[in-house]
Amino acid sequence: MDSFIDNVNFFEGNNPEKIALEYGTPLYVYNEKILRNRMYNVTQVITKYPYTANYSVKANTNIHILKLALEEGLNCDAMSIGEIQLLFKAGFSAERIFFVPNNVAPFELIFAIKHKIMTSLDSLSQLELFGECCNKLKLAYEKRTCAVRINPGVGAGHCEKVITGGKNTKFGIAEQDVPQIFEIANKYHLTIAGINQHIGSLFMQPEPYLEAVTNILRIAMLFKNLKFIDFGGGYGIPYHKLANEKDFPMEDFKKKLEPLLDEFVSKYGSVPLFKSEPGRYCVAEGGIILGRVHTIKQNADIKYAGTDIGMNVLVRPSMYDSWHDIEIIRNGKIVDRDNLMEQTVVGNICESGDILAKMRQLPQIQQDDLVCVLDAGAYGWSMSSTYNSRPRAAEILITKNGKIKVIRRRETIKDLMKLF
Ligand code: LLP
Repeated sequence: MDSFIDNVNFFEGNNPEKIALEYGTPLYVYNEKILRNRMYNVTQVITKYPYTANYSVKANTNIHILKLALEEGLNCDAMSIGEIQLLFKAGFSAERIFFVPNNVAPFELIFAIKHKIMTSLDSLSQLELFGECCNKLKLAYEKRTCAVRINPGVGAGHCEKVITGGKNTKFGIAEQDVPQIFEIANKYHLTIAGINQHIGSLFMQPEPYLEAVTNILRIAMLFKNLKFIDFGGGYGIPYHKLANEKDFPMEDFKKKLEPLLDEFVSKYGSVPLFKSEPGRYCVAEGGIILGRVHTIKQNADIKYAGTDIGMNVLVRPSMYDSWHDIEIIRNGKIVDRDNLMEQTVVGNICESGDILAKMRQLPQIQQDDLVCVLDAGAYGWSMSSTYNSRPRAAEILITKNGKIKVIRRRETIKDLMKLF
């Protein structure tokens, strides 16, 4: 692909140079059409049985993007009280939120119980704690429903740090510990209404997910009257799209998933609601970052382009060695990729590891060019920080009719000072 930005008309006719001058850089820019399109896609993963897609909001919690998810008919999963509060603010009701926390304090479970939010407990000890919270609140037995997170024994993801199933992870309850779930549930009069899993983040082949589905459906047979089974998220997106990497094979995946559900439903006796929890798939490709090149320099043999997109703005490359495609914009136009040379694109943070793209084949970058980082809509702003006391970036949305809407103002030094 020559240019993703041009191919999908990302700026919907707006001039990116004008955008950068008006709203400043670094700037997160989202495209509403792409976001809605991906969100709609995930609502169609299962069509034969009752199904809801839960958008995993940790990927991007901007309230305006949550509102798009609401309009597209998604439910959501949340990891913290903060995420739940943002969902309430965006208009989600408690029934549409699934709380899937990890190692939380009693007050967090009590918050969820009081707000009638279905909660999944991630360990036997958290299940016990949940039971104690119900006792403390003197909750009627018939209201004591919850879910448990199963570790299906299979993991997958773009690197070890994001694999959440299998033996090498803190997440979930192992199959052999399932009998103890029932003991704890009996002790506290808990009804286990659902089970969930999440094997990890970013796989481009459906096989590990399908294996985990097979495993959780086998484990589900041990539970009576489950109201829902949640298979988790993790569907990948092509981060190497300029090199023509293919999309996650959604259609093939759907075809392979259905027979597994058929077999389960025929044996289980009732039809639970099936769920998935995609985060990245919904938002990654609908977001980019615009940054400005302020320095061109050569150190030893390496040609550097120094930008304002540091690891504070996008941490994925320095945290996971993640690849994000980069396009260069000069005078409002994408620079074509006919003549490439090796360059290293870095940020303005005081760390040698503050590298956005290492020894990358790119058109020759010049001072004052704009750098456009693709696929930054997921785990971009939501993982950004104020490291080196740099206020966090603004976010704008290009609406479906090409209008520009500021959906989060740029943070200011004054905002940083407020905490003291
Ligand atoms: N459900 C649970 C319980 C999760 O922990 C996650 C992601 C998801 C769903 C959504 O996964 P997704 O569909 O987005 O892959 N910061 C890393 C990714 C960490 C994901 C953590 N959990 C990254 O930037 O690649």
